[in-house]
Amino acid sequence: MIRVLFVCLGNICRSPMAEGVFKKIIADNGVADKFYVDSAGTSAYHIGELADARMRETAEKYGIVLESRARKFEVNDFEAFDYILAMDQANFEDISALEVEKGTKNTYKLIKMRDFDPLEKGANVPDPYYGGLDGFEQVYEILLRSNTQLFNHIRDNHRL
Ligand code: 4NP
Repeated sequence: MIRVLFVCLGNICRSPMAEGVFKKIIADNGVADKFYVDSAGTSAYHIGELADARMRETAEKYGIVLESRARKFEVNDFEAFDYILAMDQANFEDISALEVEKGTKNTYKLIKMRDFDPLEKGANVPDPYYGGLDGFEQVYEILLRSNTQLFNHIRDNHRL
């Protein structure tokens, strides 16, 4: 089982969409049974909530139903997952700080989502929460590009 976790701040916009896009890619490629996919937030602001309605509407346009409930990233996630994808630099640093606190060295698992974006490698996935609907659409496009590359990377690494 390959375990993949997507992380943003609130776990109601970017990381639930990343989770939904990645699940669709593995399903379309017939390898969904080889994966466990989840998402989490570095904050506790929205624990238990469904994804933001604007993000869910955008996802549904592309045949993706977002059903996840927000949860907070926890230190145990370092052991529980093989790949941890941070949506932006702040998420990356917050997760790294937890790891330093815990004294483990699993940083190789932690990767910025857009390290896999062929158009703007290493950039942040912009937070759409306070902006207009076009921001949600842009997040979808970024995540589709990046997750397609992420899937290719994992497929090659694990000979799927
Ligand atoms: P997300 O977006 O990190 O992509 O889920 C946000 C959602 C909520 C807040 C910030 C970002 N907030 O401050 O409540």
